[in-house]
Amino acid sequence: MLLKGRNKYDMYRVMKSNIKLAPYLPETKTWSQETFLNMLNKYKSIVVKPNSGSLGRDVYFIYKKKTNYVIRVNKKRLVYPNVDAVCSYMKNIVGDKKFIIQKEIKLATIDNRRFDFRIIVQRRTRKKPWQVTGIIARRGGKGYKVTNRSRRGVALHLDVAMEKLNISGQAKTALVEEIKKVAIEASETLGKSFPKQRIFGVDIGMDQEGNLHIFELNRWPLLGGFKSLKDQSQYELIMKIKGKKKR
Ligand SMILES: Nc1ncnc2c1ncn2[C@@H]1O[C@H](COP(=O)(O)OP(=O)(O)O)[C@@H](O)[C@H]1O
Ligand SMILES: [Mg+2]
Repeated sequence: MLLKGRNKYDMYRVMKSNIKLAPYLPETKTWSQETFLNMLNKYKSIVVKPNSGSLGRDVYFIYKKKTNYVIRVNKKRLVYPNVDAVCSYMKNIVGDKKFIIQKEIKLATIDNRRFDFRIIVQRRTRKKPWQVTGIIARRGGKGYKVTNRSRRGVALHLDVAMEKLNISGQAKTALVEEIKKVAIEASETLGKSFPKQRIFGVDIGMDQEGNLHIFELNRWPLLGGFKSLKDQSQYELIMKIKGKKKR
């Protein structure tokens, strides 16, 4: 199916129809009040975010607790006594815009902060195979649930992240191979929907059991995280494959 723009739900549906990718995709639905209430009841913790992406800004984490409800967005923590109050708050945020709802993935942590992976996948021309040209870990900023750099997240070299996670040897090789395999499969799949696409920025989270989850594929990935590392080798490779002058 041909796609355009940055419609996360459309991209999710295309990926979900690939049986190799389906296990890596957190259940995702488009916003409706009914779906919101059902998913909050079912999972107790869900994420509501704009269908078109937001650099981590409008990502709402909503929790059903024993005696109340909590919303976390940016550095804010809002507490509500009942579900009606939460629902009307979110209805107001969503308005007539397109939002999606996912179950929350309980991300693994580094230095007590949540983190995820950003993988750059590129092809030299539309006919050449997709290849992974960069992987970093992104550690969330203090007080934030999201890991985006625009929300004070910090890019970590993959080796540093693995050391901090105490993953080495065979386990490290296996994890990196799985990350690459999933990122390439996702890019091959969405590459068919966007035939001219030559780069994707793949956001993949790892939960506390070590399972991987695809959050999204970015068609216009920011590269500042790679540029911020002392080791410039990945950044240089990415720019080389892009075939443009360094910025
Ligand atoms: N379902 C989820 N469970 C846990 N964390 C999430 C979930 N969705 C998003 N996040 C966190 O929020 C960040 C931003 O979400 P993302 O879907 O990449 O949207 P965008 O980057 O366009 O704002 C992710 O990198 C991740 O850290
Ligand atoms: Mg993202």
